Amino acid sequence: MDAFEVHGGARLSGTVHITGAKNSALKLAAASVLSEGRSKLTNVPEIADIPAMADILRHLGVTVTAGPGQLHFDVPARIGGETPPGLARRLRASIVLLGPLLARRGHARVAQPGGCNLGNRNIDMHLSALAQLGAEITIGADHVEARVPGGRLQGADIELPFASVGATENLLMAAVTARGTTTIRNAAREPEITDLAAYLVAMGARISAAGTTDIVVEGVEGLHPADHRVVGDRIEAGTFAVGAALTGGDVRIEGVEPSHLRLPLDKLRTIGAEVIAEDGAVVVRGGATAKATDVVTLPFPGFPTDLQPQFLVLLSQAAGTAMVTENVFDGRVQFVAELVRMGAEIAVEAHHAVVRGPRPLHGATVRATDLRAGAALVLAGLVADGPTVVTDPHHVDRGYADLAGRLRALGADVRRRSDVAAGVA
Ligand code: EPU
Repeated sequence: MDAFEVHGGARLSGTVHITGAKNSALKLAAASVLSEGRSKLTNVPEIADIPAMADILRHLGVTVTAGPGQLHFDVPARIGGETPPGLARRLRASIVLLGPLLARRGHARVAQPGGCNLGNRNIDMHLSALAQLGAEITIGADHVEARVPGGRLQGADIELPFASVGATENLLMAAVTARGTTTIRNAAREPEITDLAAYLVAMGARISAAGTTDIVVEGVEGLHPADHRVVGDRIEAGTFAVGAALTGGDVRIEGVEPSHLRLPLDKLRTIGAEVIAEDGAVVVRGGATAKATDVVTLPFPGFPTDLQPQFLVLLSQAAGTAMVTENVFDGRVQFVAELVRMGAEIAVEAHHAVVRGPRPLHGATVRATDLRAGAALVLAGLVADGPTVVTDPHHVDRGYADLAGRLRALGADVRRRSDVAAGVA
């Protein structure tokens, strides 16, 4: 059975290079369909979600070639408008093709992303925003179909009820070639949104104030292809930062913008780590003792939900009681049951987790219930007594390139059982 096998006890030390952000690269790939011709992304992470998106684009008629850390797109004059149901369900992010396909072809049919391990993942805001740009939307049992009467969307002043990352991205990509001006109010401000806007601007879009709550898009007649470097993955960087603090290690994390991690780095300092922010890098050194602090997840610049599980592991080893409140994904505290099986003392009440620490962790066989939970359990294994086996590692492969190999390079004893079987040292 494929799994991570972790033997704890080592301090992480050395340098790790952060790859491009999963949650940016996927949207940039979707944006490439907005223009005919050849475009290129660099600093693309080697994670399982990328070939899945490439397959969906191929199905639409795009020629996609992948090199080391690169994706090349050759987009024909006419592209398909239907994402393949099986593939699209494998990749929830494929919903962000709705906006660019509507803009490019005036019609799109994409698979409905159903529920997932993080709980409810509605797309109502995506759909209502696109409808306000003039799309007519039909919702089927397993798909969403959208059509633009007259073929071209019409700019509008749209306020999102919640600063949804995906809805902001879909709307941004739909609005770039709409007639007139679109204002997106209460827009998501994540660095991945700013990255997407930078790519769209390089393609000829007119976007101002991306990264703020009110993004303004002046529609243009058409876009041209462009090359773009994917922003560094702040969540991957944050995961290694927690690993360093947790193990009392000393790790230099290169390829991330520290301002994208301001709150998590502040929390690490409060917990007791030494954190040095440099230009494009962060150094994290674990302290002798760790002390509890509360964490509340919120859209950027708030504390990222994608680092909540990793911090929960760290807080299980800190002295005192911490309250972790999850405000973005209702299902994201469910993985706590796995951590409790390793010896953590955590009580879950609705979307709050009360962590009492420090409690010694012991190795166990635990399940990666989703991507970030899986990474968090691998981290827990680094400080557990006895071997930890994390099953369902495919969740982790979706968003971390060779997590085991990169932790090994920092001195940890983490292996994939598939590596063990193949004799990888
Ligand atoms: N929501 C709605 N209706 C909508 C859209 C969102 O109710 O139309 C709700 C969601 O159900 C959720 C909340 O709003 O409870 C936040 O959703 P958001 O749209 O902001 O998130 P997303 O676009 O679905 C992206 C990342 C997530 C990350 C969140 C928040 C991608 C592919 N996914 O999801 O990443 O947690 O933003 O930052 O970009 C991960 O990488 O592990 C991951 C889950």
